[in-house]
Amino acid sequence: MHEGKDTFRERLEGLRALSRGLLAGARDAASLEEARVRLLGRKGELTALLRSVGELSVAERPEAGGLANQLKAEIAAALEAAAHELAAGRRAEALDVSLPGRVRPLGTVHPITQVMEEVVATFTRMGFEVEEGPEVELDYYNFEALNMPRDHPARDMQDSFFVSDRVVLRTHTSPIQVRVMEKRQPPLRVIGPGKAFRCDSDVSHTPMFHQVEGFMVDEGVSMANLKAVLGQFAEQTFGAAPLRFRPSFFPFTEPSAEVDIRCTVCGGSGCRVCKGTGWLEILGAGLIDPEVFRAVGVDPERWSGFAFGMGIERIAMLKYGIDDIRLFFDNDLRFLGQF
Ligand code: DAH
Repeated sequence: MHEGKDTFRERLEGLRALSRGLLAGARDAASLEEARVRLLGRKGELTALLRSVGELSVAERPEAGGLANQLKAEIAAALEAAAHELAAGRRAEALDVSLPGRVRPLGTVHPITQVMEEVVATFTRMGFEVEEGPEVELDYYNFEALNMPRDHPARDMQDSFFVSDRVVLRTHTSPIQVRVMEKRQPPLRVIGPGKAFRCDSDVSHTPMFHQVEGFMVDEGVSMANLKAVLGQFAEQTFGAAPLRFRPSFFPFTEPSAEVDIRCTVCGGSGCRVCKGTGWLEILGAGLIDPEVFRAVGVDPERWSGFAFGMGIERIAMLKYGIDDIRLFFDNDLRFLGQF
């Protein structure tokens, strides 16, 4: 009889030790479940222990049964506590100092921002100051003061998002010229970076895009100054790249030109990118129209100036040989991480 009781006690304590070991060692849900089945399962250790109570003498059974049930409750509570710790992530693997460290991925500056900053830096080195303007702009600054009155056909060149009758998402950065000249007198050398918006979407157009406007106003400014400044810009941005000025029309410049660089892909022999011409258009420019000077109160008899405007996405595409503008806005890190 005594023997039976002692053996039972030993088995009980052995099981208690086993359950503590198993529960302390469980590092994930699977090993915890394994421990539960082994301890409390139908064919588990505790079931076997409870069954062995029947082998004791009738006098011993109540105490033994009580102890076994107490252990069962203990194990159940410990299982629950371990499950909570696991769920709360407080049961991580002990620190293994021989493992390599976890690398935190570093962000990169967006290619459009990079090119924008480069272009702006190129001009600030030539003495240009940076000025900005609102993206939601008055019709007056976006069109009217730039010599595009209401119903002017040139407005059709830029498919606009109107906010109201008098307010538009600026279709270009040229209104920055008007705002600056309205509040400051020449001499002026200003670069105006920012976003622009047009209702347009294909492989080379997105409804939101970036432009850099630039202008210089002083006594005796001519096309020669424009050519010199843009020559510097082209060299710094694309390397030794020859420029070509093509006569064109903008309501806010006279004369106006579209400026091309020698094709960066084929070097001028003609390819798919330059459509066989050997040249790529990079910006619009010209001498500021006297009508614009009059609108802002600058005397066109005394002052003259050049202005230009370029699309940053286009510059970035030419610089890096990218053939679809939408890649810039898809937020695919495999693409963006290359710059
Ligand atoms: N604003 C024109 C556009 O978005 C670009 C432009 C052309 C700007 C000639 C200028 C300029 O300042 O002189 O198409």
